[in-house]
Amino acid sequence: MRRVCVVGAGAREHALAHVLARTAQVVVAPGSDGIAADGFEVTDSSPLDVVADLFVIGPEQPLVEGLADPLRASGSLVVGPGADGARLEGSKTFMKALLVDAGVPTARHGTFDDAALAAEFIRALAGTVVVKTDGLAAGKGVLVTDDLDEAIADVRAKLDGTSFGDAGRRVVIEEGLVGDECSLLVLVDGTTAVALAAARDYKRLGDGDRGPNTGGMGAVSPAPGVDSSVVERIMREAVAPTVDELRRRGIEYRGVLYAGVMLTADGPLLLEYNVRFGDPEAQVVLPRLVDDPYDLLCDVAAGTLGSTPTFVRDAAVTIVLASPGYPEAPRVGQVITGLGGDGQLEGRPDGVHVYHGATRRDAGRFVTAGGRALSVTAFGSTVSDARARAYDAVGAIRFDGRQVRSDIAGVPAGVLS
Ligand code: AMP
Ligand code: GLY
Repeated sequence: MRRVCVVGAGAREHALAHVLARTAQVVVAPGSDGIAADGFEVTDSSPLDVVADLFVIGPEQPLVEGLADPLRASGSLVVGPGADGARLEGSKTFMKALLVDAGVPTARHGTFDDAALAAEFIRALAGTVVVKTDGLAAGKGVLVTDDLDEAIADVRAKLDGTSFGDAGRRVVIEEGLVGDECSLLVLVDGTTAVALAAARDYKRLGDGDRGPNTGGMGAVSPAPGVDSSVVERIMREAVAPTVDELRRRGIEYRGVLYAGVMLTADGPLLLEYNVRFGDPEAQVVLPRLVDDPYDLLCDVAAGTLGSTPTFVRDAAVTIVLASPGYPEAPRVGQVITGLGGDGQLEGRPDGVHVYHGATRRDAGRFVTAGGRALSVTAFGSTVSDARARAYDAVGAIRFDGRQVRSDIAGVPAGVLS
């Protein structure tokens, strides 16, 4: 039957649905108004009650909560690790310990639940320090700073639960690394690991990589400066030993292993693993896939992955339109102009797609319903071509207080009015 259930409601899940629909029937649980308007079946039913041949779990929360386990136990094919493997993202302490055991190069770090010991470690590290919540924080639990007092204050607010609740009651503190970032999404079928096309994500809210960390304000694939030798090195030095270490611990990992890497002067260093497709990386990587997406993801779930998938040469750029107040306190309900009833740009221009991250329909119009409201992807024969088309499309979509970076994929600050 080739029926696939995509679990989630954001722009990443919209992109998964869009790409999987090339060769399969798709249902999205729960999906959103924007995903439904684009022609996809959505359902409020629990994924456990959905009938499908393949389940692809998008967000980290249901993975960490262990949704993959009962789905697998009932005989379904599932893309996404069980609760055991999802700890790689659910606990940075667990991840760091696994990296050390596997011998994967990463930043110097320590784990703390005591503020005084943490402050001592911060003073000893000096330079740029990074403070991370141990638990999930939607990409927002990381502070990078040169100001040691700010770092210590941030540790206190995390540890006492003020800033991130229970997710922050333990912190990982590490040395700041310098370089360009790269996101390498890797498919793992339990044993075999194959890399998807590399992407670059822009994590800071503001132009020039300033402002607070977000879930990601835009992305480009291919990632500038990441050639096949860099990918091979990340696969050899980080991914392969990680998959071996997972197996040594008795964890059968079938899903996406997302390596967040800093390309330092000394070579690639692993910043973190996520246990799912990146958002917004999925919005640029998946549409470039040449292989049959359904067959490929079935291979991940069934443990039958073969050769490395191929991607079109064309570049893809995605730009996020975020609500005012994001990431601290997004204000919602702004009316979005420029979209048709199908949630897409008028005339559905070729090579451009609007992925809905957090919108809803209200009296026939789309309004914002969360932080990263929309993600607009465009293709081009070069990165600059794709970028120009993406910004053209973004220019046609308006809402009060919208936040858009003007330098995704290299556009200099100040291009957007
Ligand atoms: P993480 O959740 O660990 O990926 O951290 C989110 C973002 O914080 C990363 O994508 C980087 O932009 C930044 N970051 C994390 N760790 C470091 C580090 N050791 N040095 C510099 N920046 C970092
Ligand atoms: N774009 C970063 C993430 O998905 O975590």
